[in-house]
Amino acid sequence: MNRASVNQKSYNPCILIVDDDSSVLKSIERFLHAYPLQIFTASAAAEGIEILHANGPFQVVISDYLMPITNGDQFLGEVARTWPDSRRVILSAYADRKILLSAINEGRVHRYVTKPWDDHELLTVIQELLEEYRTIEATRSEVQEIARKNQMLALTNQQLENLVNDRTADLVVHQKQLQDTNQRLRQLSGHMEELREQERRAIAREIHDELAQSLSAIKLEISNLLPVAANQALRQRLLEVKHQVDHTLETVQRILSALRPQVLDELGLEAALEWLVNDFSRRSGIDATLLCSLDSAPLPVTLSTCLFRITQEALTNILRHAGATQITVRAWQEEDQIHLSIKDNGTGIAAERRNAGDSFGLLGMEERASLCGGHFMITCPPEGGTLVAADFPLISLLEDAP
Ligand SMILES: Nc1ncnc2c1ncn2[C@@H]1O[C@H](COP(=O)(O)OP(=O)(O)O)[C@@H](O)[C@H]1O
Ligand SMILES: [Mg+2]
Repeated sequence: MNRASVNQKSYNPCILIVDDDSSVLKSIERFLHAYPLQIFTASAAAEGIEILHANGPFQVVISDYLMPITNGDQFLGEVARTWPDSRRVILSAYADRKILLSAINEGRVHRYVTKPWDDHELLTVIQELLEEYRTIEATRSEVQEIARKNQMLALTNQQLENLVNDRTADLVVHQKQLQDTNQRLRQLSGHMEELREQERRAIAREIHDELAQSLSAIKLEISNLLPVAANQALRQRLLEVKHQVDHTLETVQRILSALRPQVLDELGLEAALEWLVNDFSRRSGIDATLLCSLDSAPLPVTLSTCLFRITQEALTNILRHAGATQITVRAWQEEDQIHLSIKDNGTGIAAERRNAGDSFGLLGMEERASLCGGHFMITCPPEGGTLVAADFPLISLLEDAP
């Protein structure tokens, strides 16, 4: 091995020249001596391979074509397989044109320089090939950087995907829990409402059976005592007591109706609505009309209670908030649906009050409707006022018949 570089700095590009003619090697070495290159020379392919293994990487490998044992094409072919980035040159007086073309086409050889060569032509070739090598290196490191970034991106993507999957799974679990809780709350609310109705009915019965009956008995007793009263003063006193009892009886009746109108249980929804609307109209002075066309078959108790209570709350709201002068209550049956609507000609409900979290009266109506499988709405129709409406599918009611 003959090492003859002017500049031994390790970052100088390495060039290997292989030729069985030592005068060629010497001549090239002498000329390249002045340039910042590390020059290695070998007199045969095998020696060249050894040098490449021991001192690489080599940027440029220059080889004679005609050499004993292994020719330049074979040698450079081997170099190309092991060090594909190296730039390879055939420097020869003789080279078969066909072989040379296929060597170039198949990538074993990059350049061909004929002997006798021109030193400056050779130098230009070496400089061009060094530039090519640098471009390849730069491209390779760029490609590697892109690949590294891609890998990081893929990793981040994967982590994000895992995170999203985890979160989605958590969300699904939480959503299910929320749905279960909602379902339980709804059941509880329905149950509480039922209990309240039962309680009201029981209290109403007790007041009716105990208080109203005793008051009626007292009234009868006074009526019996009146004709036999000893004097006018006593008769006057008895009449006053009788009036007081009448007044108390009226109050008791009012409380009874407010608790749970007997008419709802005894005569059904239509009669109860009639009583409710007339009583409301009489007490408020607002003109209220009831239009009812329900089938004669009695509705399930829960539904008739629901329709009655929604109407009651809607009328109370009209009295408190609407400033209306006219109200129409409609209840009608249509194929497989029961409809209820309460319409007033008042100020109309403000949009923000419709969905307010503290509108417990509205929420209560909605909840009642949904417990019966119905759908509740409160809107402002174009002609003004407020429309409260609820629809109930008959199917869900039949399952729950009285
Ligand atoms: N018929 C109506 N006309 C105008 N505003 C109404 C009517 N019904 C309800 N509102 C409005 O909706 C709000 C919520 O009603 P509600 O939930 O029953 O609560 P509350 O009657 O206790 O105020 C009322 O405060 C009122 O502003
Ligand atoms: Mg209210």
